[in-house]
Amino acid sequence: MKKPFNGLPAHFICSCILLCSMLFSLACIKQDTGFPGPVPDDAPYKNPAIPATERAADLLSQMTLNEKLGQMAQVDRRFLQEDEHITEYFLGSLLSGGGSAPYPNTPESWVKMYDRFQEMALNTRLKIPVIYGIDAVHGHNTLYGATIFPHNIGLGATRDMEFIERIGRITALEVAATGLDWTFAPCIAVPQDERWGRTYEGFSEYSPLVAECGAAYIKGLQGEPTWNDRKRILACAKHFAGDGGTHEGKDRGDVLVSEEVFRQIHIEPYRAAIEAGVGSIMVSFNSYRGTLMHGYKKYLTDVLKGEMGFTGFIVSDWEGTEHLAARYRDCVREAVNAGIDMVMIPGHYERFLITLKALVETGEVPVSRIDDAVKRILIIKFRMGLFEHPFSDRTLLPEIAKNEHKETAREAVRKSLVLLKNRGNILPLDKKIRRVFVTGKNADDVGHQCGGWTLTWQGTTKEDIPGTSILQGIKNTVSASTKVTYDPDGYGVKGHDVAIAVVGEFPYAEWHGDKENLALSVVDVDVIRRCKDQEVPVIVVLVSGRPMIVTDHLAYWDAFIAAWLPGSEGQGIADVLFGDYNPSGKLSYSWPKSMDRFPVNYGDTNYDPLFPYGYGLSYK
Ligand code: BGC
Ligand code: BGC
Repeated sequence: MKKPFNGLPAHFICSCILLCSMLFSLACIKQDTGFPGPVPDDAPYKNPAIPATERAADLLSQMTLNEKLGQMAQVDRRFLQEDEHITEYFLGSLLSGGGSAPYPNTPESWVKMYDRFQEMALNTRLKIPVIYGIDAVHGHNTLYGATIFPHNIGLGATRDMEFIERIGRITALEVAATGLDWTFAPCIAVPQDERWGRTYEGFSEYSPLVAECGAAYIKGLQGEPTWNDRKRILACAKHFAGDGGTHEGKDRGDVLVSEEVFRQIHIEPYRAAIEAGVGSIMVSFNSYRGTLMHGYKKYLTDVLKGEMGFTGFIVSDWEGTEHLAARYRDCVREAVNAGIDMVMIPGHYERFLITLKALVETGEVPVSRIDDAVKRILIIKFRMGLFEHPFSDRTLLPEIAKNEHKETAREAVRKSLVLLKNRGNILPLDKKIRRVFVTGKNADDVGHQCGGWTLTWQGTTKEDIPGTSILQGIKNTVSASTKVTYDPDGYGVKGHDVAIAVVGEFPYAEWHGDKENLALSVVDVDVIRRCKDQEVPVIVVLVSGRPMIVTDHLAYWDAFIAAWLPGSEGQGIADVLFGDYNPSGKLSYSWPKSMDRFPVNYGDTNYDPLFPYGYGLSYK
């Protein structure tokens, strides 16, 4: 007898079978929509007078498996194939990854998009609102025209916790004004090696300072003691744990330190975050001694939720669960069983839901684990008041990029600058100075000032970002009789009274910023030299995401300011240069001397930095 599949390659047959079974599962996932029927209006979970935990328990008791699994799924808006999938798959969360913005990128578009997604979520039997997250890591940085604050490395240098809380509050307000509920911030990494491309996302190399700054930021974002406030949003401490401690500063690398050091440096700031009431924590891409954090049950469940008493929910990082094993199924099983409550998928949600459902049905993921995850997510949604106010509040729209916010951002710049050298008190400059020469690739570029995570994931250049460049700030400040000349390459400096060279790094994010050598570039060195060769005193302003090696050049610089990544309000730099503000910033990272003696951290034995942790000059 002729075999029916004779002649067809085996893998084709396998693919067909797989496809059919996937389609069947998909049909099942979609099918139980509506089952087991509507819930009454007086269901306890709909009553805001009842405590969040009880509301969550009541709601959970009414949910089907598909409804539960949907709550655990987080999808980037770019990968949502149809808005209706929010309804069909009961999706619990959406996000904007770096640069994932609606078009046109205006507050109105965001609000419309958010409300539309929310409408889709409320079209379900249980009417559970979605929670929408975004990387608002230095202001609402994906929104065009938002107030952009200095990155955390600069905020650490301010040492001012009330002020950091205020920045958190303003960021929350601008995010809330576009409807969104949640920011993946603050990053409470404790960077131990500045070769790491995410150093600027960390407040400091010193864990207790990170803990303090992180807690202040969280209070600003969420408010206290609950955050049922339309002007506040949910915070997310990230990335748990050890992101800043990887070997040689490699992004997503391995942390090798002893457990004692791991806990003391990298886990401790989470204790402060939990005390400050943080509602969510994101898992880190790195591994600890060879085990990926995304599958590390001991730390996610036993330590974070058990020992440290974290009652919020744990979200995975971008595709972070997918590196755990060769087979996708094993990845999902390990991640969820390790204690991850919400999965930032962020694309293939059908595959995720089918896989997780199968794992529950075979008992490989216990229902009790699913219930715990969903309950944690629901409690946060109740505490946030999302059920009572699922839609955006358009009366908040005028809050975006208000003058007061821009003023605070400018103040943040002033407070975050660290004056490292001031030979013969050349600074502050006199506003009536005759001729000022401004040079360097970062002098007239708001995009460069802002760094990574601005408008796009990797950051951008000046064309894209409204704000005040450093050059513009200088022009705004000097007297009417002062002549300001600008040449990015340092030509034409002769005859000027002073040169201000604004050099440093180009924008980057995550591993794109990993560098083996932190020496100042040849181009930058040459620009500064060109000024000095013409015997013009030179003030170097470094715009960078981390300290850079300057030891060999410092001798001929007259003044040196670390400006970090100051954000959209470059005026704050002129405020310091011309004496409207007496510099007060203190290093929150030790400044290394050379790549040979690297890394160098506060508290090291044989501590030998160029400038120590805590260093920073003021004017007389
Ligand atoms: C980053 C996170 C970020 C997430 C969403 C990841 O690649 O590591 O910090 O929150 O993407 O954009
Ligand atoms: C996203 C980021 C994310 C990154 C990680 C990018 O495409 O926009 O948000 O962090 O991928 O790989």
